[in-house]
Amino acid sequence: MRIDIITLFPNMFAGPFAESIIGRAIEHNLVAIVVHNLRAHGLGKHHVVDDRPYGGGPGMVLKPEPLFELVEEIKGEDRVPVILLSPQGRLFCQKVAQELATHEQLVLICGHYEGVDERICEHLVSDEISIGDYVLTGGELAAMVVVDAVVRLLPGVLGSEESPREDSHTGGLLEYPQYTRPQVYRGWAVPQVLLSGNHSQVARWRKEQSLLRTLARRPEFLEKADLSAEERRFIETMKG
Ligand code: ADE
Repeated sequence: MRIDIITLFPNMFAGPFAESIIGRAIEHNLVAIVVHNLRAHGLGKHHVVDDRPYGGGPGMVLKPEPLFELVEEIKGEDRVPVILLSPQGRLFCQKVAQELATHEQLVLICGHYEGVDERICEHLVSDEISIGDYVLTGGELAAMVVVDAVVRLLPGVLGSEESPREDSHTGGLLEYPQYTRPQVYRGWAVPQVLLSGNHSQVARWRKEQSLLRTLARRPEFLEKADLSAEERRFIETMKG
């Protein structure tokens, strides 16, 4: 996959993409991330990228010309999703990450200031995504979140041991609690069943913990989760 990111602050991306799983994915050519400085495509001697809003009001609005020209240069004639990160977008979630991970290429535009000229949203962008119901200073951190969630789903990025099939959210339930050594820490003991070596009991305990945790923290997930009749009965008993 190739991901093009358009931003006025390209330096923000250096750290996060150099480290850990994403850094390794880039190194192994499983993904190419190209960060474009919108300023370099600004108009005139001063590389102007924004202007005051028609109708008045505070702040500046990103102009259409630099963004249209840069996006067209990046994607050529290809059909590529062009995604604007904005608090007005549809809410990002695991399902959207899975959908984005199926594309060969993505173009992400980081919005800034008071917003972008509406003609960009209407005629250049194919999708607007918000990472949550709060307002960031710009789309950069949101783009990093989207890239992270998408790239870890690409084939070969996670080892089989970290398989995304086991993720919280993928199966519609939250994950069960995990423990490692020591067996007792400050008097807090690891649940006995995990030390038993009985695989079917461990699997059952984990499933029950997933269900209980989802019931307690995100009950709305249970309606859509793919549950057996026995699991549904367990939930009903726990609800009391
Ligand atoms: N830009 C500003 N706030 C944002 C958000 N919540 N999601 C995506 N982009 C944004």
